[in-house]
Amino acid sequence: MRSKIVAGNWKMNKNLAETEALLTELAAKLPDTQAEVMVAPTFVNLAAAVHTLDSSVIEVIAQNMHFAESGAYTGEISADMLLNIGIDTVIIGHSERRAYFGETDEILAKKVKAALAKNMRVMFCFGEELDDRKSDNHFKVVESQLKNALFSLEASDWGKIVLAYEPVWAIGTGETASPEQAQEMHAFIRKTITEAYDASIANNVSILYGGSVKPANAVEIFGKPDVDGGLIGGASLVADDFVAIIKAI
Ligand code: 13P
Repeated sequence: MRSKIVAGNWKMNKNLAETEALLTELAAKLPDTQAEVMVAPTFVNLAAAVHTLDSSVIEVIAQNMHFAESGAYTGEISADMLLNIGIDTVIIGHSERRAYFGETDEILAKKVKAALAKNMRVMFCFGEELDDRKSDNHFKVVESQLKNALFSLEASDWGKIVLAYEPVWAIGTGETASPEQAQEMHAFIRKTITEAYDASIANNVSILYGGSVKPANAVEIFGKPDVDGGLIGGASLVADDFVAIIKAI
């Protein structure tokens, strides 16, 4: 059985005091849910976030990591550093990392392997750009992103993978994939994994949708059979909105 997951990607938002305040509010308002709830604050506030959520089921996750063990990589963070402060899930491959920081499929494949080698859970993000969809290349693009970064993994690694389909044109734009578009792509992703591995792996991997999920559209999107939750940007920065999205699952 795959898990339902609602994760908040805070990106480069919230200072220390704001992080603690939002997490305290979230923990207090967290509805009763079977879903896993995660938040990804900025690196400098991760340790404080872990401390603030000490007695909560909300999991703190990281937005990124480097593939090297340690060494001369100014400005970077290793898997061990995350594990050392109690974080064992990391987002890899966000479209903003790909677009603004030059992260290629090849780099992402290394990051995924490095995280798995440390027994971390990976939330792997991917998704097509607007031009890809307009030119009807979205399935091809998504297939190649998955293949290049993930399909050399061992079957046994897939228990540690969560997928987040985030069409770039729907991120931070207020424009969402329709529930039908999300379902169509998620079903395609499962078919692609079935062909590369098998149906059991495909059926057991959680596939989240990300891209302008809001309280007003979450019920419909999460209602689709192959959508197992969401990776939420803007709406995760407001406790009541994030709580409403968690309730929607
Ligand atoms: P928005 O929810 O702000 O569109 O961001 C989605 C996202 O990029 C989550 O990683």
